[in-house]
Amino acid sequence: MARILVTGGAGYIGSHTCLELLNAGHEVVVFDNLSNSSEEALHRVQKLADKTLVFVKGDIRHPDELDQVFQNHQIDAVIHFAGLKAVGESQQIPLVYFDNNIAGSAQLFKSMEKAGVFTLVFSSSATVYDEANHSPLNETMSTGMPSNNYGYTKLIVEQMLEKLAQADARWSIALLRYFNPVGAHQSGLIGEDPQGIPNNLMPYVTQVAVGRREKLSIYGNDYDTIDGTGVRDYIHVVDLANAHLCALNNRLAAQGCRAWNIGTGHGSSVLEVKNTFEQVNGVAIAFEFAPRRAGDVATSFADNRRAINELDWQPQYTLKDMLADSWNWQKQNPNGFN
Ligand code: NAD
Ligand code: UFG
Repeated sequence: MARILVTGGAGYIGSHTCLELLNAGHEVVVFDNLSNSSEEALHRVQKLADKTLVFVKGDIRHPDELDQVFQNHQIDAVIHFAGLKAVGESQQIPLVYFDNNIAGSAQLFKSMEKAGVFTLVFSSSATVYDEANHSPLNETMSTGMPSNNYGYTKLIVEQMLEKLAQADARWSIALLRYFNPVGAHQSGLIGEDPQGIPNNLMPYVTQVAVGRREKLSIYGNDYDTIDGTGVRDYIHVVDLANAHLCALNNRLAAQGCRAWNIGTGHGSSVLEVKNTFEQVNGVAIAFEFAPRRAGDVATSFADNRRAINELDWQPQYTLKDMLADSWNWQKQNPNGFN
């Protein structure tokens, strides 16, 4: 049992991870400014776990608030989800992204060092890989210059952490490179609740299904893929949450900085996702083909063998499970947590 500080713990992936942490017997302190989430998610996590967690409303850019948390709670390790993640927005307001994701992360690491806490799991992304690499992507492949500022912030924080671990052997850091997180907890009580028009495929599909959006635009049907639409590695958010527990266990017993891909190792096309959603849930998804979206690659899926071999982790859920659980959440919560 350990006491874990979860930054961004009220968000989509964070809330699912808090639940798995509580279920595994850990103590959880959530630090979140609620800029893209609702405290209601944490009420539901506690209800599901039948256990309590500590919630501190605060911002990772504010050193005093961070230092206070470390002073008030004997933290053993940190899982760092807090950050902004809208790709399009990151192109319009890059400084806000640099400040939140890069400067905010640096501030967190400073407070950790001050408090003598050196075990960290960081939310990275498959977007850090050089686009010239061919899928399946593995961790020995080169990183590149991401096509957007959001991806750039992930790359910079990864590089900062590698240098930190090189400079000081007390650090033990996991870089988890997520592929495409989708799905929701099977209860339907917690799930993804994007503000405004969703950028990502899955919330867009469920919002069309529930009648909040008219139709899905499929960005490009002329890629060199099985049916011309983009291929991605969708991973159930509960499998992803569990990967954090496995990474935590690994890091509590090791030193240095190491990256792991978290995906299923299997790619699915946009059309396959849409068709499977219709088939599993019995709901029609109106759609149209639209031009390619700037910055998208044709295909991205993981070689996940390093995570399976080293972290004692194994994804459990199929694409059908992911699509059924996404719909179950959206159906029960047509307007998210509001
Ligand atoms: P999310 O927006 O649901 O969660 C992020 C949380 O961080 C939110 O609760 C938000 O309020 C909080 N936050 C943002 N800025 C903060 C700040 N300055 N101080 C304190 N809290 C702050 O997003 P998510 O999908 O759960 O993603 C979690 C992490 O995983 C992010 O770092 C994201 O970049 C990364 N990631 C997500 C995906 C994805 O597709 N969802 C893919 C790869 C990586
Ligand atoms: N897509 C559509 N229509 C939509 C939304 C998406 O056809 O309305 C397609 C995309 O073109 C892509 C696939 O669905 O082929 C998946 O798109 P998402 O936006 O859901 O996911 P991405 O793979 O683009 O995004 C991921 C991560 C981000 C990361 C980004 C880097 O979710 O965190 O890769 O490009 F930054």
